[in-house]
Amino acid sequence: MVLAPADAERILVEHSPEQEAWPHHCRQVAKVARLIGEALLDQGHSLDVELLTSQALLHDIGRAKTHGPLHGWTGFVMLRDLGFPKSGRGCLTHWLKGRAVDEVRAAKAWKPSLADRAFKALEPTLWELADSVLSFADSSVQHTTIVPVTQRHQDLLDRYGDSSWLRRAAELGEDHGAEITAALGFPVEHLLTPLFGDSVDGH
Ligand SMILES: [Fe+2]
Repeated sequence: MVLAPADAERILVEHSPEQEAWPHHCRQVAKVARLIGEALLDQGHSLDVELLTSQALLHDIGRAKTHGPLHGWTGFVMLRDLGFPKSGRGCLTHWLKGRAVDEVRAAKAWKPSLADRAFKALEPTLWELADSVLSFADSSVQHTTIVPVTQRHQDLLDRYGDSSWLRRAAELGEDHGAEITAALGFPVEHLLTPLFGDSVDGH
């Protein structure tokens, strides 16, 4: 079963702790993902924008339980247990971010077997254009503010420290932007520039 965005918003509200900004981050990511998704539809691409919006709204829901590196997996399990694995895809894809399974297996923060389980949970198995849109949208929202991708990833490096994992995330965010640009036939930045600085008050 697939959640409509209004149902995803309801689940987000139900799992939003007081005083936390991450649910607003999710709403901003959903705003960007929907904007890009609709532009891709206009260009003739087939994309389920409602599903994409729901996935974006819920991509960080695992933060209701942990802010650690496994919040993506945790969020997916939460949504799968609620009966909505398709809507939990964004929890997995914003974590894996298009990396190959061997890259994820090699990370020190979890056991290689978890990487295998995460990839096995991807349905469909292959990375899709909609996954790139969610990844790029997540790469475009710093806390609750829409910003250029380079700024967002520099902030992550500053906050969490330099690592090959985060550098790869930055590279993949840029790659997904380039993929979207090619699919649109014009620079994706043309869509986002008017939104740079757009923010949501996190309580
Ligand atoms: Fe996020």
